[in-house]
Amino acid sequence: MKILFIGDVVGENGQDLLAKALPKLKAEHKPDVTIVNGENSHKSGTGITEKDARFLFGCGADVITGGNHSLRRCGVDFYEENEFVLCPVNFNAVTDESCGVCVLDMGRNQLCVVSLIGTVFLDANRSPFFEMDRIIKKYGHMPIFVDFHAEATSEKYALAHYLDGKVSAVVGTHTHVQTNDEQILPKGTAYISDAGCVCALDSVLGMKKEACIEKQKYLCPVKFEVKSGEGFVNGVLIETDPGTGNSTSVEKVHIKFN
Ligand SMILES: [Fe+2]
Ligand SMILES: [Fe+2]
Repeated sequence: MKILFIGDVVGENGQDLLAKALPKLKAEHKPDVTIVNGENSHKSGTGITEKDARFLFGCGADVITGGNHSLRRCGVDFYEENEFVLCPVNFNAVTDESCGVCVLDMGRNQLCVVSLIGTVFLDANRSPFFEMDRIIKKYGHMPIFVDFHAEATSEKYALAHYLDGKVSAVVGTHTHVQTNDEQILPKGTAYISDAGCVCALDSVLGMKKEACIEKQKYLCPVKFEVKSGEGFVNGVLIETDPGTGNSTSVEKVHIKFN
């Protein structure tokens, strides 16, 4: 089973880049499942609405995962109503597991997709470790893909090794910068600290650089705006044995577009 995952799509510029890239990527790699992180896909660069989700599905996403911005433009009810749009399952605000976990049924094969958030340098939520214990008990009979939206690489590695052999993949998101540490862990879990994002190159993580410089230099409130123009599309392609749930390869996807 081939799983294509694309990192945080930032604003309309990210949506445009995704629309250009995803059909080509899907034609080239023929993934069985395509997962896209949409927590920044709203035109403001934070959050997601029904319109944004529709656009990402229209580009070819099968499942949309979330992050710390998932509740910025909509409530938990949005995730309750939309089976394949996920927010982090361990958000304190989430009591209905279906908000952050879904199962894709592909006939012979199934895949459980989990949107999960870290607790280090982010607003505290329920422990991702205990949350995954519970999810594995319920869905451990099928391959499980985890989008772990977290800030600290230490937390990402610790969770990935904790889940090694129990899930098919732990793919990091949130820092928007693709890391160079993709690997298959000793017991068969595919891992990368961060898949990267879909955003303009001449920016700070997808936002106009001037406001970001102002914010970092003076620590004053600023209005962030999404940067348009030339950008890149980042993600990973994972090959998983649907029988054992072990992954056999993980490759980075990294394309630049004008
Ligand atoms: Fe993000
Ligand atoms: Fe984030």
